[in-house]
Amino acid sequence: MRIWVFLVTLFVTQPILSNPSVEMLHWWTAEGEDSALSVIEDRFRLLPFSLKNDPIAGGGGGPAKSILQARAIAGYSPDIAQMEGPAIQSWAALGFLMGMNEVAKLNQWDQSLYRDIQAIHKYNGNYVAIPLNIHRLNWMWVNKEVLAKHQLSLPNDWDSLLLVLNVLKNKGITPLALGEEPWQVVQIFENIAFGVGGAHYYRQAFVDLAPEALNSPETLEALDRFRSLANIVGNDLSKISWDQGTKALLKGEFAFQFTGDWALGEMLSSGSSIPDYIQCSPFPSTENGFIYNVDSLAFFSTRSNEDQNITSIMAALSAPKFLLEFSKKKGSIPAQTNIPIDDLSRCQQKSYDDYIRASRNGSAMPSLTDSMAVNPVIQNAVSNELYRYFIDSSITSKTLIGHLNAINNEIFR
Ligand code: BGC
Repeated sequence: MRIWVFLVTLFVTQPILSNPSVEMLHWWTAEGEDSALSVIEDRFRLLPFSLKNDPIAGGGGGPAKSILQARAIAGYSPDIAQMEGPAIQSWAALGFLMGMNEVAKLNQWDQSLYRDIQAIHKYNGNYVAIPLNIHRLNWMWVNKEVLAKHQLSLPNDWDSLLLVLNVLKNKGITPLALGEEPWQVVQIFENIAFGVGGAHYYRQAFVDLAPEALNSPETLEALDRFRSLANIVGNDLSKISWDQGTKALLKGEFAFQFTGDWALGEMLSSGSSIPDYIQCSPFPSTENGFIYNVDSLAFFSTRSNEDQNITSIMAALSAPKFLLEFSKKKGSIPAQTNIPIDDLSRCQQKSYDDYIRASRNGSAMPSLTDSMAVNPVIQNAVSNELYRYFIDSSITSKTLIGHLNAINNEIFR
């Protein structure tokens, strides 16, 4: 009896030792994103830490980024945050981020990361974030059954695309899965602009914001095409989120969706493979190019991070096997070169081949509207202008170009 009393007392009075909690802020809230997130959660089960998720809904991460800023200013940053592009360097410049050179060395990032991707993750020559994956944005997702039902063939250039969209619209069918969120809308402009002017023009206009490229006939043509699209689909944009759009595309409620391959992650989460009736083709006239963004994880120098050996988490979340599993669910391709991708879906294999080719011939381009090309201030200003132009037909393309030039002149880069 005594021994029982002793054991019960011991159990009740001892603090239960639990793993230190690590908070991660991100915007992976759709089903496909959630299944990719579960790969991170699985890794945490093997570590002496417990993951506290802080998911902030909103495609493209606008709300998540605002909340991250507010929290950092108020002095309670999360331990880990999802980030993209030049913002990583801004956070590092402000002194918020932990260095990653140790894991960079472990994974030989100087050799194993694609060159463009290396640069984005370094500040002052030191690595400051983990690149997880590469998403392609210039995709055209097509439900071939919808096209077949209306005796339409797959469009392969801008004119045939417009024709198909118009035919469907005239039959009373909403052709495009597109919600009213600015993020969903303005991504399409990049694809159009790349299609009109090619990689060199895209870089000059939307990465360097060079006045001669912004003021060129190519920009006028791209804006005219954007307006033609707005005239077809712009009046009745619904409130659907991108993932609702992908689900509806799968059901045949729309014929097309133009968005990044997070849509693929969503499709893969609904079944284990991509349905045969779904075609993934590059957005018309961008076949030789690749517009990308990269999901990265940055670690904040919070007190708890400094107190604990956080490097084991960094190592786990940058190991090649983990990166492959994550991309498998996310619809993307891994950010490191040394990872065989035979296990990935047909669209991911295409993405991989196209990325390798495009990065060799200089036509892999960072997305401006999805946070890869310019700093967040310019990104937001340009995106707002493009969105206003799309929804307000009284704004002329010349006026819009004037506004883009003004952004370039007035905002310190
Ligand atoms: C991110 C993706 C995410 C998508 C939709 C993009 O900015 O890179 O990881 O799935 O937004 O939320």
